[in-house]
Amino acid sequence: MSKTTVRKIEAINGPGTEPLGDTLVLPIAKGSTTVPEPWNGMFTSPSDPVRVLVGSGDFKGDLGEVAVAYRGEGQPSRVLLVGMGDAAQFTRERLRVVVAAGARRALDLATAELTVSLDSLPGNDTASAVVEAAAEAVYLGTYRFDAPKASDSAGERALSVVRLSRSGLSEGDANAAAQRGLHRAAGTNLARDLGHTPANLMTPTHLAERAEMLASQYDLDFTVFGREEAERLGMGAFLGVTQGSVQPPQMIFLRYDCGNPDAPTVGLVGKGITFDSGGISLKPSAKMDEMKYDMCGAAAVLGTMSAVRPLGIGVNVIAAVAAAENMPSGTATKPGDVHTSYSGKTIEVLNTDAEGRLVLADALSYVVRNHKPAALLDYATLTGAVITALGHYGAAVLSNDDPLWQRIERAGETSGDRVWRLPIWEEMPDHLRTPFADLKNIADGNAGAGTIAAGAFLREFVEGTPWAHIDIAGTAWWDKDRPHIPKGASGYGVRLTLDVLSGIAG
Ligand code: BES
Ligand code: MN
Ligand code: ZN
Repeated sequence: MSKTTVRKIEAINGPGTEPLGDTLVLPIAKGSTTVPEPWNGMFTSPSDPVRVLVGSGDFKGDLGEVAVAYRGEGQPSRVLLVGMGDAAQFTRERLRVVVAAGARRALDLATAELTVSLDSLPGNDTASAVVEAAAEAVYLGTYRFDAPKASDSAGERALSVVRLSRSGLSEGDANAAAQRGLHRAAGTNLARDLGHTPANLMTPTHLAERAEMLASQYDLDFTVFGREEAERLGMGAFLGVTQGSVQPPQMIFLRYDCGNPDAPTVGLVGKGITFDSGGISLKPSAKMDEMKYDMCGAAAVLGTMSAVRPLGIGVNVIAAVAAAENMPSGTATKPGDVHTSYSGKTIEVLNTDAEGRLVLADALSYVVRNHKPAALLDYATLTGAVITALGHYGAAVLSNDDPLWQRIERAGETSGDRVWRLPIWEEMPDHLRTPFADLKNIADGNAGAGTIAAGAFLREFVEGTPWAHIDIAGTAWWDKDRPHIPKGASGYGVRLTLDVLSGIAG
């Protein structure tokens, strides 16, 4: 579980109306030497430390730069100047960086009550989009995983209240925007928690229990298929991955009914490999611990499902999480084994480490045949190759549908979860042919383009449904700390998907 680092968030209408607490975050554009409106009226004395600091030129205003001015008595006693970078380049994502950098420093300084100025920011975003993104950033930036430790030096430090200051919005609209931001970040932080939990605890069974908890908390329908049901349904691709493990597999479903029977249904499918050793095609031991994160696609789906009801998203959603552990043993799938998938297509498993596409294949065709979604998205830490292509900066998208891709591209811009489309060229499916089955699970030896090959494989199981595969192997976690994305599991995909769903809802 994450720690509670922010107890309460609310919106206020500029300075002068409410108490401001002990700390104020003031965003400052690069090169600016004056305190922005309407806060300049508060620091009128030429010797006020805020005026002195801003005017000195020592503070550059580079994106995410933080400087602290101490004012002694009075509220706020401490002002955090946070650099916004070039005003002309300011975006919603940069706003998240600024607010998260300020909130994190405030928490480090043991602030009790924080006010964040969102007044007079550059850019074209509406005031409610600004408040929403700022609230999101407060919770994203101050996220801390509650690791099981005998002693905890960080203690129970928390901001008792965060006030987001923005004029030009009714109190109701401003607070609604702040609550939306909170729900989006809470879903993201839930995905981070699931990702961080070690694989001895985060088993397929535990993942199913967490999904069941979400169902009761957020009024979702919950169903799970264990090994026997999966066998009865013929999910041979899914079962072939899990057969080397002592952990029972779980094919988990959550359904969100938005209350409008005419609304379309969107399918979300997540790769939930709770540990990927590679199986008999064993991975090298360096960094193998990171394969506890191989359920981050599932985490993105569950994080999204935790937020759809609170946000009142206007589409129905069927979510499927294919949860299994990929282990070597005497019962494990061997290279060359052939399994029959739920779709009926047979698959020759030439590399047991290409397991994600196998569990996804059965989840995708099950959702297609039983729920007939208008659009289908899957999330998976699927290929190391996507890190070669895009690093940890953005996810790759493979899609058979241009309009769906365009929605995802727009959602990438609004959410900050970056996406980049890769093609599936026409001869690629031919490279998945084998004399021993309908398909093999890896492309020909030297074909390269591993991320695309995986996408071409998955496309075989969506039966023409408008579909997009999102390869999050690079974006699901990173060892680099960013203001709103602390190092470790990022929760990538939750806010992207919420924006895609809102876009489809119209
Ligand atoms: N979970 C891995 C992909 C992965 C690797 C994610 C490194 C994050 C970091 C996946 O199951 C896998 O092993 N993919 C193989 C596919 C290959 C055998 C065709 C890969 O990318 O090497
Ligand atoms: Mn693997
Ligand atoms: Zn994997």
